Amino acid sequence: MKQFQFDVQKFRSHFPACELQVAGAPIAYLDGPGGTQVPQSVVDAITGYLINDNANEGGNFKASYKTDEVEQAAFAAAADFLGCSPQEVGFSVGSTQHSYNFSVNIAKTLQPGDELIITEIDHRCNSQPWRRLAAQGFVVKQVRMDLETQQLDFDDYMSKLSDRTKVVAVNWASNALGTITDVKKYIDAAHEVGAVTVVDAVHYAAHLPIDVKAIGTDVLLCSPYKFFGPHMGLCYMDEKLLGSLDFNNAGAEDISQGSRKFHMATPQYEFLAGMTAAINLIADTGVEYAECFEDELEGLTGRRRNVVAGMLAFDAYEAPLAARIRRGLRRLPGVKVYGPAEGEPRTPTVAFTMEGYAPEEVTKVLGDKGINSWHGDFYAIEVISALGLEDKGGLIRVGLAPYCTESDIDRLLATVSELAYAKA
Ligand SMILES: Cc1ncc(COP(=O)(O)O)c(C=O)c1O
Repeated sequence: MKQFQFDVQKFRSHFPACELQVAGAPIAYLDGPGGTQVPQSVVDAITGYLINDNANEGGNFKASYKTDEVEQAAFAAAADFLGCSPQEVGFSVGSTQHSYNFSVNIAKTLQPGDELIITEIDHRCNSQPWRRLAAQGFVVKQVRMDLETQQLDFDDYMSKLSDRTKVVAVNWASNALGTITDVKKYIDAAHEVGAVTVVDAVHYAAHLPIDVKAIGTDVLLCSPYKFFGPHMGLCYMDEKLLGSLDFNNAGAEDISQGSRKFHMATPQYEFLAGMTAAINLIADTGVEYAECFEDELEGLTGRRRNVVAGMLAFDAYEAPLAARIRRGLRRLPGVKVYGPAEGEPRTPTVAFTMEGYAPEEVTKVLGDKGINSWHGDFYAIEVISALGLEDKGGLIRVGLAPYCTESDIDRLLATVSELAYAKA
């Protein structure tokens, strides 16, 4: 098997934003968990559509034929990204909209007293829509996060799951801590009692390949703006479930079938074109590294194979860099790194706090030096309050994308080190 060596400069060359500088240095984009940069191919796909093919679908003229093609190509690309059929994916402005839309529509099939399970580790996207249903007489139960391990407590989940449970909404990777949950375990147990499962993969999708059929979830949410695409949401729904639900869309015949049921309004065709280009960049990257992952790719073909190879390459590049950030931060006085223990599954997202500094002060110093990072709760509000950080301004969060470099990390660690020793 070929030795893995990621060509980060080649990958960066796709991204015009990697040319930008602040304070005389290239911007260190450690803000990826909030959204990644876009490659030129995505910009070209969006502007190309708007300039040459801008229309609505279903008409008898060239731009409308092209629009139909753009939509079909997006269904096919999204299906390859998730490992499902093009009939099982749909688009919207974001995952939170998909989550609300699904919760409202499935609630029509439930009875008061039915139970819904959410988790403490989730972004509000995957918990708030369900929490709101309590007002309609549904019982909402929240699975706790173990404060010690900073992982979901599976025993607590099992104690809450029963044949009254109708929906389980669970997070695959925490956008605050990077904790990866073994969602298959949660899904299998939910299916044992006949509950429908919704997996929030918005953070996970940026770092590891997804196979919706392998985990067996009924619904999965992700957002292409976290993996080089435009600001929009992508939702998978198992074909049987999709067929059984009555969606609150305009109800016209052509949007009442298959994936189009998701579409509440005219789709953002230009963004669909952009998303396809983003997935194609992942696949093109995968072609370069497929030989390094032959075992993992066995049985896969075509663009699906290349997408999986691309995501495996990103993970193989990012994981050791993230470990270096955690090691570097842990050596500094007054710095506390959060998330699961070393060796436990996690994304390359690192959350930390610094004694003597509000998180917002730290991100400001970093930002002034062209090192982009985030502070606050990132809408993972329950995580922040469980950690007792609600009144302390939350966490500082840095996250990797495959265009990040060793030099970005050097600069991050040097700046945090200066701050840490100034108060030591
Ligand atoms: C884990 C997670 N879930 C959901 C969301 C919300 O996604 P969207 O902005 O597409 O609604 C985010 C956004 O940061 C996220 O990180």
